[in-house]
Amino acid sequence: MKAKFITLEGIEGSGKTSSLKSITDLLDKKNISYIVTREPGGSSIGKELRAILLDPDTEISPEVELMLMLSDRKDHVEKIILPNLEKGNWVVSDRFMDSSIAYQGGGRQLDKKLIISLTDYLNLPQPDLTLLFDLPVEISLSRVKARGELDRFEKEELEFHKRIRNTYLDLAKNNSNRIKIIDSSKKIESMLNNVKQAIEKLFSE
Ligand code: TMP
Repeated sequence: MKAKFITLEGIEGSGKTSSLKSITDLLDKKNISYIVTREPGGSSIGKELRAILLDPDTEISPEVELMLMLSDRKDHVEKIILPNLEKGNWVVSDRFMDSSIAYQGGGRQLDKKLIISLTDYLNLPQPDLTLLFDLPVEISLSRVKARGELDRFEKEELEFHKRIRNTYLDLAKNNSNRIKIIDSSKKIESMLNNVKQAIEKLFSE
């Protein structure tokens, strides 16, 4: 079986990170070798970019933010994602290209077509499966606020997060073969069951 590339997407506090354990448990059970990584911050250059990008006290224009996210992604793909897929390791990435379309395109209102053409220029691999964790923005933000200090994105206004959620839902509608919506407003067991089913489908491909 060819190594698969899985990405997790969603607004802040949507449950993507907490579902990681059920994904890795499933891969372990199948004796599949894998790595778990994330964006921004999957490579060593990326870790430095992440610190800048999330710092609530740093002012960054939408255009610079986009360029830093894309720089992080290209380095991540070259140094971590492709070498692992080539070695036969599955790659599970907490965020990837859909985040740039949703956050910089939807949230910051930059031209989505431009973001897609920059992504094409970077020649990025296409995920085999993207799980989009979806729930109403009001619920997700209350979860985030309960966690404590807010980063540069988390502290944005409600409308910013609503635009991101809507862009994600549009992306899912237009890429229904790749993107599977996981309803994270459901009880955790039922949500994790849906995650499991989506991953198990990959085993037979
Ligand atoms: P998280 O990985 O802890 O969710 O934090 C990363 C933040 O960066 C999150 O608010 C989403 C944001 N982000 C973008 O705005 N664009 C991107 O392309 C990526 C990968 C992340």
